[in-house]
Amino acid sequence: MSNNILVTGATGNVGSEVVRLLSKRGYSVKAAVRSHSASRIHLPSGIESVAFDFEQTQTFEPAFRGINTLFLVRPPAISQVKKYIYPALTIAQATGVDRIVFLSLLGAERMAIVPHAKIEAYIKSLGLVYTFLRASFFMQNLSTTHSQDIRDRNEIFVPAGKGKTSFIDVRDIATVAVKVMTEPGHEDRAYPLTGSEALDYYEVAEIFTNVLGRQIVYTHPSFLKFARKMYVRGLQPGLIVVMLGIYTTARLGLAAKVTEDVRHLLQRSPISMEEFVRDYRASWM
Ligand SMILES: NC(=O)c1ccc[n+]([C@@H]2O[C@H](COP(=O)([O-])OP(=O)(O)OC[C@H]3O[C@@H](n4cnc5c(N)ncnc54)[C@H](OP(=O)(O)O)[C@@H]3O)[C@@H](O)[C@H]2O)c1
Repeated sequence: MSNNILVTGATGNVGSEVVRLLSKRGYSVKAAVRSHSASRIHLPSGIESVAFDFEQTQTFEPAFRGINTLFLVRPPAISQVKKYIYPALTIAQATGVDRIVFLSLLGAERMAIVPHAKIEAYIKSLGLVYTFLRASFFMQNLSTTHSQDIRDRNEIFVPAGKGKTSFIDVRDIATVAVKVMTEPGHEDRAYPLTGSEALDYYEVAEIFTNVLGRQIVYTHPSFLKFARKMYVRGLQPGLIVVMLGIYTTARLGLAAKVTEDVRHLLQRSPISMEEFVRDYRASWM
């Protein structure tokens, strides 16, 4: 049976890597992109794209036509999943999608309040074949959201206290996603995906210092100082609240869980923080 795959979030951290890997390996893949985004510059050349926006219901049916596997990313800005994500999934199923691989969150099964848990429950209620990739905190947050502080001030500025986090590289998540979408045996499974160790931000700063060859300091700001700085920087209050929630989890030691799933699935060690910093060093120069 043919396996036609549609990737949402195709211009984002994980989706862009999923698209790149699928296309490199010769699979039939389409990138679902918002028509107004400058998507082309984020997509590998030659990738077919289709207009898709969770906030534009008329884009759903044409995007899902001919697709049987959906890689689903919930855009971080969408918290009203009932309003924006459920309708897309209902139409996906009606149009012929029979399998969803969903980028979820580590521990989602214990946190009914997070959007990811609601989406998981809805996918199950539709009776679709599913694989949930419950990912830990991305290393790439340090090369995107927090890169400016490291690049311009040599500081890691997050309110995570001394808590440890089992950072994962999005390239590992994408590699797992491609595997579960193209091989049998992952139906109706949920995989908790983490790196191979949990690090606190003092240890992360030390790795940055060693790899970049200049002193990088973890300045462990208070929640208030962090929130104020993010607000001045122009981040939406809703997003700042989400970030505070994430770093509270880390501060309380709840982001430190390490699993063996990436190693078992990929038959190799997860990408380490050292490798990540080496590969992305241009982000902080
Ligand atoms: N960051 C972490 O540490 C972490 C850890 C675990 C799980 N997660 C989860 O991972 C997901 C984010 O993944 P990511 O970091 O790969 O994404 P990302 O880089 O934040 O990119 C978001 C993607 O969603 C697209 N998008 C935004 N609004 C849209 C809309 N209305 N309709 C359709 N597409 C839209 C964006 O397209 P445009 O180019 O058009 O903007 C972009 O491709 C979130 O659900 C997050 O909770 C994150």
